[in-house]
Amino acid sequence: MPSRSIRVAVLGARGLVGQWFLKMLHGHPWFKLTAVTSHEAVGLRYRDAVKWLAGGDVPFDFGEMEFIEADPKKVDADVVFSALPTEAARKLELMFAEAGFTVVSKSAAYRLDENVPLVVPEINPDHLALIDVQRTKMSGAIVTDPNCTTTILALPLKPIHDAYGIRKVVVTTLQAASGAGYPGVASLDLIDNVVPYIQGEEEKVRDELLKIMGKLSGGRVEWAGMEVASTCTRVPVLDGHLESVYVETEREVDENEVVELLQEFKGKPQTLKLPTAPEKPIIVLSGVDRPQPRLDRLSGSVPGMSVTVGRVRRGVNKRSVMFLALGHNLVRGAAGSAILLAELLAAEKYI
Ligand SMILES: NC(=O)c1ccc[n+]([C@@H]2O[C@H](COP(=O)([O-])OP(=O)(O)OC[C@H]3O[C@@H](n4cnc5c(N)ncnc54)[C@H](OP(=O)(O)O)[C@@H]3O)[C@@H](O)[C@H]2O)c1
Repeated sequence: MPSRSIRVAVLGARGLVGQWFLKMLHGHPWFKLTAVTSHEAVGLRYRDAVKWLAGGDVPFDFGEMEFIEADPKKVDADVVFSALPTEAARKLELMFAEAGFTVVSKSAAYRLDENVPLVVPEINPDHLALIDVQRTKMSGAIVTDPNCTTTILALPLKPIHDAYGIRKVVVTTLQAASGAGYPGVASLDLIDNVVPYIQGEEEKVRDELLKIMGKLSGGRVEWAGMEVASTCTRVPVLDGHLESVYVETEREVDENEVVELLQEFKGKPQTLKLPTAPEKPIIVLSGVDRPQPRLDRLSGSVPGMSVTVGRVRRGVNKRSVMFLALGHNLVRGAAGSAILLAELLAAEKYI
């Protein structure tokens, strides 16, 4: 636990991810929210300017805060969580890092930059060492975590990769409407429909997965060598991305052993007992018709922070396995994972 509370700000606090940041920061034992920024609502009170969609009510005290401009001179914080669109993030995140802030970003702007760690805390916490490379050039740092689809995929792949070595991954996703932010996809395009394309998503899944699974060596990440192919679709589900995954491995796979490996998987956040770490990052369900978004997206000891997996079965031969994975795109895929990452940064004394 840090010796004092850590001051945090949320950039883009009015958007969907921003709202989940506020929901999950409310009552946080280590972090104290000191600023919320907006593009179009500067000067307005949070509760008056937000269309709150994160369930329940706007946390009372946060609702009274006034939106300020995303300007490093106006923000009083140690850490800024960025829930900005990519283009705005490219400029603003760098400005904040150069001004000495630690930026924990949910945007895609710097995820693939070679000096920027792209981290799922249970998978590759050692990649945070790239912060030291950034700090030779500026006083702050940018730290990122993956796109929601990639995080939900990467968690169950990690124990399989460690045990059997993954050669190939083929994934088809059924992604929730809220993954596109607010207002997102027009309702007339999505109701009674499936949109079989999400711009830029398939490239993100491949590149981000290869970087996360890569090895840190000599101050840079050597991307993993596995083949990755994905088809990303948007479906009329509110929250929760479901992913149908096919994996080919170097060594022979035993499905029962895979179930055990997934159930027992734990990482540094669990060892360190970080406040937002779920006891089980992966929950395996035995029902033949699970996981389902409506039933399972808020599973786990920290609701929404676990990925649920089901229908683990053999693929085309003994070196392949198939399963379905589901995760809450705004919790494990967005605000929750960024908060967990900031907790790891605090526990490892980066902040
Ligand atoms: N939705 C998800 O499931 C999800 C998951 C993982 C990652 N992400 C990523 O997280 C980020 C936010 O996504 P979202 O779904 O929350 O989007 P969103 O609902 O559209 O919200 C975007 C926010 O960014 C602010 N903004 C827009 N243009 C800006 C500018 N030029 N300068 C400063 N602020 C600006 C908006 O501020 P005002 O409204 O106050 O003007 C709004 O609060 C994106 O990079 C997205 O790719 C989203």
